[in-house]
Amino acid sequence: MSSPSKPVASAEIPRHVAIIMDGNGRWARRRLLPRVAGHRKGVEALRGVIRACAERGISHLTVFAFSSENWRRPQEEVTLLMELFMRALENEVAKLHENGIRFRVIGDLGGFSERIQDLIRDAEALTRDNTRLTFTVAANYGGRWDIVQAVRTLIAEGACAADVDEAALAKRLSMTGEPEPDLFIRTGGEQRISNFLLWQLAYAELYFTDALWPDFDAAALDAALASYRKRERRFGRTSEQVQSAG
Ligand code: IPE
Ligand code: IPE
Ligand code: MG
Repeated sequence: MSSPSKPVASAEIPRHVAIIMDGNGRWARRRLLPRVAGHRKGVEALRGVIRACAERGISHLTVFAFSSENWRRPQEEVTLLMELFMRALENEVAKLHENGIRFRVIGDLGGFSERIQDLIRDAEALTRDNTRLTFTVAANYGGRWDIVQAVRTLIAEGACAADVDEAALAKRLSMTGEPEPDLFIRTGGEQRISNFLLWQLAYAELYFTDALWPDFDAAALDAALASYRKRERRFGRTSEQVQSAG
């Protein structure tokens, strides 16, 4: 029998973890390195987190790699980030495929070079039938953009007001068909959403850590998962209802 104070009803392991990988620049600055060194180290950290998620039975991992607002950064940093993205697509996708990982990119891909767009299309096609983990990168992504493009799609399909409901809209968002994030993690100490998955985060458990992204490892992930396990997910109900159902 569970005591009233013991939180229940959040499954042991979240199905879907969504992460804002923040703090690369500060990680580099603390070491008197150029910001891009932090981004490079961030790619390494991501490799470890993908592996750790797969090992822990998390079936969906979505990371924010480049926001629609990040074009506002200095031109040099944007160029270096694009190069890094291209190299990662060239070098990492085969390994993802070998490990049974399905790879997807969400965002306004038209903002990227033809080369990057081709690499993304090839990687998605190669890995489309993998089922161990769906790994999604949000790139040139914005939550508001996503909602607007979903509405545009509905209108283009000839929807009238009566056709528009939550299910119809959700079906046209970039993450369609995937479960909503159960656990949201943001590294780097900032406590904001920064236009990430606005619609899908409605009921996610939020976890903020001061750890800078390049330092975020399997142990840091486990700390987030431990916090998640203590949460009681009520979805509007009372604690008593949740506990008697659980
Ligand atoms: C996150 O790290 C990576 C991207 C936004 C591309 P930042 O580059 O935002 O690092 P800080 O916040 O400046 O430390
Ligand atoms: C959010 O980080 C986007 C990514 C991690 C890609 P930012 O560092 O760009 O967010 P703000 O500008 O501090 O909100
Ligand atoms: Mg930042």
